[in-house]
Amino acid sequence: MSEIYDVVVVGGGPGGYNCAIRAGQLGLKVACIETRKTLGGTCLNVGCIPSKSLLHASEMYETAQNDFAGMGIKATVELDLPTMLAAKEKTVEGLTQGIAFLFKKNNVEHIFGFGKIIDGTTVDVDGKQLKTKNIVIATGSEVATLPGIEIDEKQIVSSTGALSLTEVPKKLLVIGAGVIGLELGSVWRRLGSEVTVVEYLDHILPGMEGEVQKQGARLLKRQKMKFELKRKVTGINKTKDGIVVKTEASAGGKPKDIETDVVLVCIGRRPFTTGLGLEGVGVTTDKRGFIQTSHFKTSVDSIWAVGDCTPGPMLAHKAEDEGVAVAELIAGKAGHVNYDVIPGVVYTKPEIASVGKTSEQLKAEGIPFKVGKFPFAANSRARANHETDGFVKILAHAETDEILGAHMIGVGVGEMIGEVALAMEFRASSEDIARTCHAHPTCSEAVRQAAMDVEKWAMQM
Ligand code: FAD
Ligand code: NAI
Repeated sequence: MSEIYDVVVVGGGPGGYNCAIRAGQLGLKVACIETRKTLGGTCLNVGCIPSKSLLHASEMYETAQNDFAGMGIKATVELDLPTMLAAKEKTVEGLTQGIAFLFKKNNVEHIFGFGKIIDGTTVDVDGKQLKTKNIVIATGSEVATLPGIEIDEKQIVSSTGALSLTEVPKKLLVIGAGVIGLELGSVWRRLGSEVTVVEYLDHILPGMEGEVQKQGARLLKRQKMKFELKRKVTGINKTKDGIVVKTEASAGGKPKDIETDVVLVCIGRRPFTTGLGLEGVGVTTDKRGFIQTSHFKTSVDSIWAVGDCTPGPMLAHKAEDEGVAVAELIAGKAGHVNYDVIPGVVYTKPEIASVGKTSEQLKAEGIPFKVGKFPFAANSRARANHETDGFVKILAHAETDEILGAHMIGVGVGEMIGEVALAMEFRASSEDIARTCHAHPTCSEAVRQAAMDVEKWAMQM
C-alpha cells in the first residue's frame, strides 16, 4: 500500500481506457484494472470491432456474389469461414494490443485482475489493495437473458457466440430486432443462413425515427431476412435434429413453433457490477441495476461511474466521452458530455444513422419543427455506385432553424452522420449546412440537399 494513485479505473473498455489515457495525459497518477486478458472491453474484444470485421467481410462476399456481374466483373466466389474468423481475430488482437501501447505511452499502469471496491479510497485487486484519491467505475454491461433459456454459446448464443460460429447455420433464429439482431443477423444471412427475427414490438429498432424503421424493415425483408413482429419467445426445446423455438403473439395466444439450428438471444444488455462491492460502500443503483450518477459522480463523493454501467445509450463513444469528461473533472478541468448530440449507427447494408431527436420525440415534446428530406436515388454518386436505397431526413426548429435531429438510411450514412453531429454541436441552422459547399460527386451532397429541402429549395429533385 505504498503508492497513492490520483485515479484507479475499474474496467478497461472504452469508458475505462479512455478515462485512464486522458488522466495520464493530464499528468495524473493512474491505474486501470481489467479482469479480461486483453484491454478494450466488450467493444474491442466481443462487440463493435469483431462485429464490424464480420459485417465488412460478409458484405464483400455478398457484393462479389450478387453485384460484381452487373458491373462487368466476372469472379468465382467461395466462402472460407475459418480465414474470415481468423482475420477478425487478428484485427481484434491488433487493436487490443494498441490500447496496451497507448497505456505505456501515457503512463497508465495496467493491472490485470478483478477489482473490488473496499471503501471510497481503496480498491482490492485479487488480494492486493490500491489506495487512491478517486475511483472510476467502468465495468460495462453483460447480455440480458430470457428466463428459462440458457445460453450455451453453441446452439443458443449471445452476440459473443454469434461472432465465432464455426459453421454457417442453415437456419438462425434471432430474438430481438434491435441493433445486434439486425447486424449479426445480416452477417449470417449474407453467409448463407435463413434468418428469422422474432421481435416483441410491431417494429424494428425501437427508438429510431419511424420512417427509418419502416424503410429499414422493407430493405432487410428484400434481402430475405424474415420478421416475426409482435411475437415473443416462450420457450426453447432442443431436439436431436436442432431446436424448436416456441413463440406466441406478444399480446398472448396464437402459438407458433419455429424450427431452427441456432438461436441468437439479443434482447438488450444490462449493467455489469457483480462482485464490485457497491452495496458495501454505499454506491446506489436504480432498479435496473444502473449506477446512479450526477455529473458522473456516484452517491459516494470520490467514486465516479461511466459507460454502459450507467444510464443512457449503451454505445462505445458515449462511454468514451464520459471517461474523458471524468478524467478532466478530476484534473480540475471542465469535463462535459452533450447528451443531445450522441450519434447512433446500425451497420447493416444500407447503414442506418441517427443523431438528436426524432420527429416522434419532437411531436411528443410539442417542439415545432420543419422537415427536409432527400432520397439517395437522386444523388449522382449513389447512382454511379448502384447504391440508391434510402434517404436523409433533417429536422430543424420551425422558428430558429436550429438543427434538432437527423435520420438517415443509405450506404455510408454512418460516416455522413458526423457532419450533422458537428453542425449540431455548433448549434448550426439547417441553412448553415445548405450553404456549405460539398464536394461533387459525393453521397454527402444528399445531406446538403436535405438541409436545403427544409426551406424547400432542394435543387436536385
Ligand atoms: P465495456 O466495454 O463492457 O468494458 C468493461 C470492462 O470492464 C470489461 O472488459 C470487463 O471485463 C471489465 N470489468 C468488469 N468488472 C470488472 C472488475 N470488477 N474488475 C476488473 N475489470 C472489470 N457500440 C458502439 O458504439 N458501436 C458499435 O458498433 C457497437 N457494436 C457492438 C456490438 C456488439 C456485439 C456488442 C455486444 C456491443 C456493441 N456496442 C457498440 C456497444 C459497446 O460495446 C459498449 O457500449 C461499450 O463497450 C461500453 O464500454 P464500457 O467501457 O462502458 O464497458
Ligand atoms: P436492443 O435494445 O438494441 O434491442 C433489443 C430488441 O429486443 C428490442 O427491439 C426489443 O423490443 C426486443 N425484445 C426485448 N425482449 C424481447 C423478447 N422477450 N422477445 C422478442 N423481442 C424482445 O439490444 P441489443 O440488440 O441486444 O443490443 C444491446 C446494446 O448493444 C444496444 O443497447 C446497443 O446500443 C449496443 N450495440 C450497439 C451497436 C451499434 O452501435 N452499432 C451494435 C450492437 C450493439
